[in-house]
Amino acid sequence: MATSSVQIQVTEAELKLLQTLIYQECGMYFDERRAHFLQDRLQRRLKACGLDTFYSYYRVLTSHQGRPELALLVENLTVNETSFFRNKPQLDLFHRTILEELLHRKQDRRDWSLRFWSAGCSTGQEPYTMAMLIADALAYYYLRNPLPFEMPSPKPLIPPPWKVEILASDINYSVLRTAQEAVYPDDQMEPVDYAYRLRYFDKAGDRYNVKQSLKQLVHFDFHNLKTEFLPQRNDVIFCRNVMIYFDEAEQKRLVEKFYRCLNPEGYLFIGHAESLFGLSDRFRMVHVNNGTAYQRIEVHS
Ligand SMILES: C[S@@+](CC[C@H](N)C(=O)[O-])C[C@H]1O[C@@H](n2cnc3c(N)ncnc32)[C@H](O)[C@@H]1O
Repeated sequence: MATSSVQIQVTEAELKLLQTLIYQECGMYFDERRAHFLQDRLQRRLKACGLDTFYSYYRVLTSHQGRPELALLVENLTVNETSFFRNKPQLDLFHRTILEELLHRKQDRRDWSLRFWSAGCSTGQEPYTMAMLIADALAYYYLRNPLPFEMPSPKPLIPPPWKVEILASDINYSVLRTAQEAVYPDDQMEPVDYAYRLRYFDKAGDRYNVKQSLKQLVHFDFHNLKTEFLPQRNDVIFCRNVMIYFDEAEQKRLVEKFYRCLNPEGYLFIGHAESLFGLSDRFRMVHVNNGTAYQRIEVHS
């Protein structure tokens, strides 16, 4: 065991081994441009574990007992940048067009359940933004399309008989814990306008706590998007700014899985810098006022 602050020499071949292991574990691909980042995080973990050779660490990572360390290394490699109301044009499309279409379609079938999934939710700003937009859109829809169901008192965020479930998942336990706490400092609230702050947050000092009624709509869980067993029967999936860290083969596999995880005619939202072009022809692009989403194409025989 050694705890020196000296950099441990890692050869290109060793780095390649690690790159392959990470890719197999979670789909993240570290090409030459990101090799430096991988090297840096590796050094940190070697020091934290008190190990002085690459191979001693690699043996830990590939052993059964080393699973928690592999999870920690992956956590150290994820980029968790996020914000409330990220990519407004896309959220406008979600709020005004897609939710409206979805609610009409569901109501026609007397299907009152709505399932959303934020895949790669980081510290929670994305699923809570979705929750605010869904609650708002549903309230407005309900005003125009009231249903003969008794309204409980106090009036719930989601009017009966509608049921909303938002699953928010990530591979990083640490961001999931922050997301679950749902407490955000002032400087992260800038994109949240005052009407939303008043309705969905309680202010405590210089922090904002997401209100319980909104929190209740979101359920957090660990899911590794590399695996085959992913949450099914979603009406809408948000997977924004996650696929950019995967290579093309992994992106294709993931998009194919998302197709199967969506209900017929369900929607997929990906990041501003991402596209399904060349990855799949099983989705139709919906583009309104600079906002883009993809709708599952149904094949009728
Ligand atoms: C840049 S953040 C994007 C957060 C949010 N979707 C947004 O657009 O603001 C990417 C998130 O994807 C997660 N992630 C990366 N690889 C993943 C995987 N294989 N399975 C699940 N989540 C993953 C990371 O932990 C990180 O929190």
